[in-house]
Amino acid sequence: MPHNLLARALLIFGIGLALLAVGFAGWFYLQPGAMQEARFDPNASGGGDYGGPFTLTNQNGDRVSRSDFAGSYLLIYFGYTFCPDVCPTSLSVMTQALDRLEEEAPEKAAAVQPLFITVDPERDSVEVLKQYVEFFHPRLIGLTGTLDEIDQVAKDYRIYVKKVRDESATDYLVDHSSTLILLGRDGEFIRLFSHGTPPQEIATALSSIVKR
Ligand code: NI
Repeated sequence: MPHNLLARALLIFGIGLALLAVGFAGWFYLQPGAMQEARFDPNASGGGDYGGPFTLTNQNGDRVSRSDFAGSYLLIYFGYTFCPDVCPTSLSVMTQALDRLEEEAPEKAAAVQPLFITVDPERDSVEVLKQYVEFFHPRLIGLTGTLDEIDQVAKDYRIYVKKVRDESATDYLVDHSSTLILLGRDGEFIRLFSHGTPPQEIATALSSIVKR
């Protein structure tokens, strides 16, 4: 048997293995999670009561607390203004749902206060929020705060937040839960609407939940 041939076969096999290893390493590197900067462990926030009081800063620079909304149902979405697609979609679904409820039962729609709480307070200043919320529901209130304040609220509402550093991009992204949260008139948790719930379904649910 020509020794040469065996050596060549081994060489080709070796190159193949090396390519596989490089490919796997590349795949692993690109996985969300490989280059992330965790602010907190989302799994650590399980158990106990869901939600809680908060005091944050709205898009006009005023400090507002959950108790300031006592008497209203709160429809809360956590996200950030730099979000490329999920947040704008979720906020327009929220807006459409409230618009439909408004047509069907205006007094019920008026009892629901939509809130947008940023998970990216470092970039979402009062000014940035103010410009952003105007694109959506006219009564939408944007809330920001210090990193600690936002971390605490996200933790209390069990919102997964992870900063994603992408070496190829100048800016970072933030992975986050995209559920819509409904609280009752006393701030009690009522239910979640998962991402992708159609606006009409949300409007119908709100209509049956909201009491005049
Ligand atoms: Ni988003």
